[in-house]
Amino acid sequence: MNLRIVDVLKKEPTQNIQISGWVRSFRGGRFIALNDGSCMQSIQVVVDEEKVKEEVIANISTGASLCVKGDLVESMGSGQKTEIQANDIQIIGIAKPEDVQQSILQPKKHSLEKLREQAHIRMRTNLFGAVFRIRHHMAYAIHKYFNDNGYFYIHTPIITGTDAEGAGETFRVTTLPVGTKEEVSNENDFFGKPTHLTVSGQLEAELAALALGKAYTFGPTFRAENSNTTRHLAEFWMIEPELAFADIHDNMNLGEDFLKYLIQYAKDHCSEDLAFLNDRALKEEQQLPKDKRNEFSLLERMQMVLDHDFERITYSEAIDILLQSKPHKKKKFKFPVEWGIDLQSEHEKFLVEKHFKKPVIIVDYPAAIKAFYMRENSDGKTVAAMDILFPGIGEIIGGSQREERHDVLERKCKEFNVPKEAIWWYLDTRKFGTVPHAGFGLGFERLMMFVTGMTNIRDVIPFPRTPNNAEF
Ligand code: 4AD
Ligand code: MG
Repeated sequence: MNLRIVDVLKKEPTQNIQISGWVRSFRGGRFIALNDGSCMQSIQVVVDEEKVKEEVIANISTGASLCVKGDLVESMGSGQKTEIQANDIQIIGIAKPEDVQQSILQPKKHSLEKLREQAHIRMRTNLFGAVFRIRHHMAYAIHKYFNDNGYFYIHTPIITGTDAEGAGETFRVTTLPVGTKEEVSNENDFFGKPTHLTVSGQLEAELAALALGKAYTFGPTFRAENSNTTRHLAEFWMIEPELAFADIHDNMNLGEDFLKYLIQYAKDHCSEDLAFLNDRALKEEQQLPKDKRNEFSLLERMQMVLDHDFERITYSEAIDILLQSKPHKKKKFKFPVEWGIDLQSEHEKFLVEKHFKKPVIIVDYPAAIKAFYMRENSDGKTVAAMDILFPGIGEIIGGSQREERHDVLERKCKEFNVPKEAIWWYLDTRKFGTVPHAGFGLGFERLMMFVTGMTNIRDVIPFPRTPNNAEF
């Protein structure tokens, strides 16, 4: 049976162990760096010509997969505490040097763009090994947090007939041949009505919360927004908790506590990978002009989130701050500031990175720029919406208290042109013991960007889907 290299590296010298992995490098016909993905570090395997056949040695090269049997001994060399003296090596799969040379497995520095083009093997690199091990730990931590706090995991549909966010940026789901009259009119389609991939599991998560009290979804969501930015994907993962008998303040507290828990969890469980990413970012930034560099390192930014209460301000206060700001007065903002605008990322950046220098929660947005389901405030102009903004990321969480009053919700549906036929079941819950409730959506990849320091969202999801790109 194979042992994992992460466990072997912690062991005292011992005999007769077996490991399997991929060759990172082979030096001097004698020293193999073998990595099995269980951790960042590779183990050194020492090849003894008397024990391992010549034709086997001839096939050991970067990229090849091996099974090694041998003894774990104290290392004579510097750089590692222990190493494996191989008694037997089996080549599982060869890697021809001429093929490896064409690939990112060739041990030299490759650009992130190049690595993306070879996403089928980029997880073999130290960088992407670290990113995707952390991604796993974060997904686990999310389930752990909710489980430990009494939330039930609910599986909401991927194919839906409603557009929860009302932004109309959906992908159609159909079995009808493209361009036919039937397709255009949606007659005789598979579900007997127009359907698309979900943009959010919220509406169904609400149904769960209104029965189970506390619920959450964690699944893929799809948006056909044609924004080719470093923060948007067409397919991304969203975590959406929903809490009954709760208001917008409970929601803000949950969001802050949840994010802090996840960041602390990463620090506690991913320290080796985080140290690597921290150093990597520092080295990368040394190439940049001073004003483009981060004021704080990855680990410092994470610690700053843990050490500070998030600033909580209303949308109107945020607008006032922006109107008083230097960039506004000097006409440096691309998008002009006035009450009623949707905050642009330049505005969010100013508030978080320049003004408050910590995470900011903005509440009570103008009703007109937010979704129909958000609870109307008594001023009649704003809704109990909240966005959590993070340094370097911008909006990481978007959520709200939900409109629980049947009559108000019915009116909002009309105002937002949400057809009653599509949403009757949602309205219905407001008739059977309606209660104040609230929730939010955390973009998993936005969280991953913050925790890894990666600056392009395409580098924190294994196989990104973006405009003109659905490879792998
Ligand atoms: O603010 P959004 O659109 O909120 C909702 O969908 C609500 N239904 C959530 C809820 O209340 N249950 O999206 C939530 C979060 C954003 O804050 C952002 O982090 C992320 O999802 N997000 C994206 N991430 C990657 N690519 C995209 N195209 C994204 N759009 C939103
Ligand atoms: Mg939003």
